[in-house]
Amino acid sequence: MTDAVLEVKNLSLRFRGRYRFLRGRAASVKALDAVSFSLGRGDTLAVIGESGSGKTSLLRAIMGLLPLREGDIELWGKSARSMSADERSDIRRRCGYVLQDPYSSLPPTMSVMDAVTEPWNIVHHGRGKREEGLSRARSLLSEMKLPEDLWPSRVRYSLSGGQRQRVAVARALILEPELLLCDEPTAMQDISTRGEVIEVLQRRVGAGMAMVLVTHDLFLARRAARRGIVLNRGMIVDAGGTEQLLLNPSHEYTRALVAALPRI
Ligand SMILES: Nc1ncnc2c1ncn2[C@@H]1O[C@H](COP(=O)(O)OP(=O)(O)OP(=O)(O)O)[C@@H](O)[C@H]1O
Ligand SMILES: [Mg+2]
Repeated sequence: MTDAVLEVKNLSLRFRGRYRFLRGRAASVKALDAVSFSLGRGDTLAVIGESGSGKTSLLRAIMGLLPLREGDIELWGKSARSMSADERSDIRRRCGYVLQDPYSSLPPTMSVMDAVTEPWNIVHHGRGKREEGLSRARSLLSEMKLPEDLWPSRVRYSLSGGQRQRVAVARALILEPELLLCDEPTAMQDISTRGEVIEVLQRRVGAGMAMVLVTHDLFLARRAARRGIVLNRGMIVDAGGTEQLLLNPSHEYTRALVAALPRI
């Protein structure tokens, strides 16, 4: 694939247990087990799985936030195993990351506007650039349908969980990432605002951004992504088109996930 953005190769990840003394030997959790997939430009991959299946760990590993011991992660053809510190920071700049918890991911004492422009101001300097950052933030916040009277407010005092999530998405988009990692970006939205957030993301994907979308919502996965992988205890137990995963799941675990969906 010439336009490969991300390639995860046989990635395994283990966390050492914290309470070793209770068990007498090092207990460890296998958070990821031989996970492989690839993603190209303008491609979206849904990562589906129940709580504790390893979804967040996968995104953190891709961002280089966890030590890489087994397997490899290639970003734009560059192996994480042989990246220099400069290459790593250049690659981080090309990636956006929307953390799962919008309460800890935004600087609480900043205003909404400052929280969105901060990544821009770190990279771009000068008065003209500052203006451009503000104008980008304004258009992103309008696109995210965040009421204008909240823009000058402080994140800590004035925003609901769903509003924080929309600010977090705007903050992740301001540098126009080529790869966006989204961890349950709509978990706190209601049905209508969920659709709006997904539309904003899909517009970027239409323009060439690659996206990994973590969700435990199979309907959302089907709406936002053509392909998906299903994780269970860190292993890919099912993979394929999201349409097929939802309507005609072949694996027992996916069938159980689908059977647990609410029906009208
Ligand atoms: N920092 C850590 N230290 C120890 N164990 C961890 C750590 N982070 C995750 N784990 C373990 O790794 C496994 C996968 O966790 P992860 O957060 O990736 O799950 P998840 O699929 O994102 O779940 P959720 O849907 O609840 O967010 C879990 O068993 C968890 O307890
Ligand atoms: Mg998670």
